[in-house]
Amino acid sequence: MASIFSYEGKRVAIVGCFSGMGEACARALVDLGAEVHGADIKPSPVDLASFTQVDLKDWSSIDQAVGGIGGEIDALFNCAGLPQTFPAADVVAVNFLGIRHWTEQWLPRVKRGGAIATISSLAGMAYLTKLEMLKPVIAIADRVAFLDWVAGNPGLVGDGYSFSKELLNTWTCLQAVELAPRGIRINATMPSPTQTPMMAAFEQVAGQVVLDTFTAPTGRRSTADEQGNAMVLLNSDAASFVSGVCLPVDGGFFGGVTTGAIDMQALLARATASAAV
Ligand SMILES: NC(=O)c1ccc[n+]([C@@H]2O[C@H](COP(=O)([O-])OP(=O)(O)OC[C@H]3O[C@@H](n4cnc5c(N)ncnc54)[C@H](O)[C@@H]3O)[C@@H](O)[C@H]2O)c1
Repeated sequence: MASIFSYEGKRVAIVGCFSGMGEACARALVDLGAEVHGADIKPSPVDLASFTQVDLKDWSSIDQAVGGIGGEIDALFNCAGLPQTFPAADVVAVNFLGIRHWTEQWLPRVKRGGAIATISSLAGMAYLTKLEMLKPVIAIADRVAFLDWVAGNPGLVGDGYSFSKELLNTWTCLQAVELAPRGIRINATMPSPTQTPMMAAFEQVAGQVVLDTFTAPTGRRSTADEQGNAMVLLNSDAASFVSGVCLPVDGGFFGGVTTGAIDMQALLARATASAAV
């Protein structure tokens, strides 16, 4: 019997496979026997069945990429993203709008029994407290109207990063209901700080000491492989009844903060004080 974790005979697409978690995820999928079709704004170092250049900020580039890869897929892996060192409008355009449009273009090609997984972030973990603000934004289908809303609401959008991840989490939950009758699952992961090329940008924004408070309770950053593998698990047959989940992949951080077992305010105060010395 084939393993429920295997990707033998499966055809998958992945965006964000130039570096970091997406690169790790693509390597794991190749190792597990999948036919992997990759896309990214930069060429992937992984030996893939095909690679297509795509810019998630540009919907015509997305349409061309999906049409160019073509065919049906068993699973879709959304691993691309921008940090908040980029302009807020670009961060939202890639992390939410681009990922959503890319997914929507793939949806008619996702087989029944197929699955979609997106890398979100713990930065979006407060989404359940903001649903009334987030749901009407998600309902804006038009790209220009969406970006107009973003430009007109700087107070809500902030640097764009947490906001884009809150949108992704909420959209994932809403899509799970839409897609269930079609036999398609959709989930997201919420990684804690992870040692990838994006980390340099996070350290620039938050500082290493403050950033490392988010590594409680393990006291370490995760690896790109640990995050890639969680994506592989979510889209595998082993997770056949898992949908609409925003899964913290964080060594226990989310559970600790949510229950008060981790006192984030105290950790942050200590980190800020030591950073100021
Ligand atoms: N590293 C962390 O600590 C951390 C924590 C939580 C969430 N995340 C999220 O994980 C995901 C992967 O990031 P990573 O840490 O592996 O960093 P990374 O920078 O190595 O990977 C990001 C990938 O996105 C691609 N990309 C960027 N802009 C693009 C565009 N316009 N079109 C197509 N592809 C584009 C990059 O080329 C790269 O391959 C991101 O969504 C990020 O927000 C990262």
